[in-house]
Amino acid sequence: MKPKILVARAVFADVIDRLREHFDVETNDADAVWPKAELMQRLRGKVGAFTTGSERIDVEVLDANPQLRAVCNMAVGYNNFDVDACTARGVLCTNTPEVLTESTADFGFALMMAAARRICESEHFLRAGRWTKWSYDMFAGGDVHGATLGVLGMGRIGQAIARRGALGFGMRVIYHNRSRLDPAVEAPLRAQYVSKEELLRRSDHLMIVVPYGPAVHHAIGAAELALMKPTATLTNIARGGVVDDAALADALRERRIAAAGLDVFEGEPKVHAGLLAVSNVVLTPHIASATEATRRAMADLAADNLIAALGCGPNAGRPPTPLNPEVLQRRT
Ligand code: GLV
Repeated sequence: MKPKILVARAVFADVIDRLREHFDVETNDADAVWPKAELMQRLRGKVGAFTTGSERIDVEVLDANPQLRAVCNMAVGYNNFDVDACTARGVLCTNTPEVLTESTADFGFALMMAAARRICESEHFLRAGRWTKWSYDMFAGGDVHGATLGVLGMGRIGQAIARRGALGFGMRVIYHNRSRLDPAVEAPLRAQYVSKEELLRRSDHLMIVVPYGPAVHHAIGAAELALMKPTATLTNIARGGVVDDAALADALRERRIAAAGLDVFEGEPKVHAGLLAVSNVVLTPHIASATEATRRAMADLAADNLIAALGCGPNAGRPPTPLNPEVLQRRT
């Protein structure tokens, strides 16, 4: 009998077929986001789960399913996992780093540019039939080239954005991170490490790319927004919760900052009413990694992880991107 796994959301059919070569697979063809009780019930008897950021794997879920051995996210972010609780119970966690870095950085840059140059706001104006004449100041925004790009969270994606800014757009790059990068990594990005306060004060375009965790909950709130330039933009492609959306909506409405680009939201897919009510924000539904090729690469990597984590396939026992590899060491 093949081991049982759960694929918690709809995904490419050929990826499911590949999983079926090794496992008895329960799928979610309707692509429903299951409430926690249903997720716990569907995990019964499953040794592995192919998950996305929508499925929270916490103590309650783990304790209801002690047979679980691996949870493999099709996402680089893994704040939906209680990794410590998984590790304590011998459950391997994996994510999908690297494969989405460049596509996500492209999107972050696009969102920043759309906010700075007021692309969506002006498109809505045109579509509404309100464009009757050219005017000298119509939708005048802020320059991106030559401006100061501030990056909060200088991991792989932050660095890919910094590279675009420095090398493609002649931007000055400043960043804040838990720790300073090696000067050899900083040099080609021409990136300068600064305090968070300096980052907020100096950035013309602030890019939030820091992974979410309790330590960065509302890292950007009313006090931080108050330090920013009135001409600055803020782009969040990290996670909802890093930015206090209510405070951001207030700052945008009162034009205390110029504009924002948001791909992630607190409590998404709900979006704060204050953000929906202002025109100087570009809003997208958590799609920063969504290119055909990248989503495919993410699904393939998540499947490779699950197959290997459950002791199958050519890399049995050696999943490519484990988050808690100590679990594997304990298994040997
Ligand atoms: C998307 O948000 C991801 O974490 O991959």
